[in-house]
Amino acid sequence: MSHILVTGAAGFIGSHTVDQLLAAGHRVTGVDSFRTGHRANLANALREPAFALLEADVAAAGVVDGLVAAAKPDAVIHLAALVSVQESIRNPDLNYTLNVHAVQLVAEAARRHGVARLVFASSAAVYGDTADLPLHERSAVQPISPYGAAKLAAEAILLGYARSFALTVRCQRYFNVFGPRQDPASPYSGVISIFNRRYREGLGVTIYGDGSQTRDFVSVHDVARANVLAATRPGIPTGVANICTGRATSLREVVAEFARHHPAVPAPKFEAARGGDILHSRGDATLAERELGFRARVSVADGLAELVRTG
Ligand code: UD1
Repeated sequence: MSHILVTGAAGFIGSHTVDQLLAAGHRVTGVDSFRTGHRANLANALREPAFALLEADVAAAGVVDGLVAAAKPDAVIHLAALVSVQESIRNPDLNYTLNVHAVQLVAEAARRHGVARLVFASSAAVYGDTADLPLHERSAVQPISPYGAAKLAAEAILLGYARSFALTVRCQRYFNVFGPRQDPASPYSGVISIFNRRYREGLGVTIYGDGSQTRDFVSVHDVARANVLAATRPGIPTGVANICTGRATSLREVVAEFARHHPAVPAPKFEAARGGDILHSRGDATLAERELGFRARVSVADGLAELVRTG
């Protein structure tokens, strides 16, 4: 049994990570500012005696240092972040504070208090719109948003710490994560969360472009499992790895699945492709398998069926 500190514990990925850590018998301290996280996501976890939840902003001076000093965790899973690419464009200063500065604070707290391992929520956004598919960890990194740039800067900070101090770092480059608890509130939320809400409400969806665009959609259950492995599996090296399925699914295929579950909902509308949209994205999944023993298990069809069932 380990004791794991999870930042961003009440978020979409954070809350599933907490649930899986608890199910595996670990003790978990969660922290969240509730800027975008929701306490309701932790409804199950909060019933567990092995879970403690604190409300705090890890980007504020002294917060994470105090938390790590008090909790003395075996590992930190740092998921607290500004999570929207669009918000990073609207508010690049906040993006810097939450996605770069806070990472420095977490790394320094880990070093000062002898935490052995640090897992970081990176993103396929570090690759930008390179056409070199599947995206490999050695592919060019050319972020095209403040968000992607911040994730890349944060990776560099953490790898510098790992090289210099007794700290193992795992940077997890998540692809298009989907599943229960993803917030569909903005038009720029993950497409599957938006489509799920629209179908549930009996409304048709809008496809930007012709629907042939593809993404590597990875279930949040798989992502959470990858986080648990990265934090707790013995003997893994420092490194950066894609967290993806290695498979491409088109928007048309996603819509066909929803339509199968909701036959009465009107057919989708098509509108012009969004500016800045990329056509295809797919990761190479082999490094995470080699270094973490992680392989995605949930198919898009099964993940969508679960969403339709549970909301
Ligand atoms: C991701 C980011 C996005 C960013 C882009 C940069 C998320 C959730 N999105 O988008 O903010 O600008 O990388 O490359 O992190 N779509 C529809 N109908 C909808 C919503 C979306 O057709 O109602 C389309 C989009 O135009 C896109 C596809 O679905 O072609 C997937 O969209 P999304 O889930 O936002 O993921 P990314 O495009 O990877």
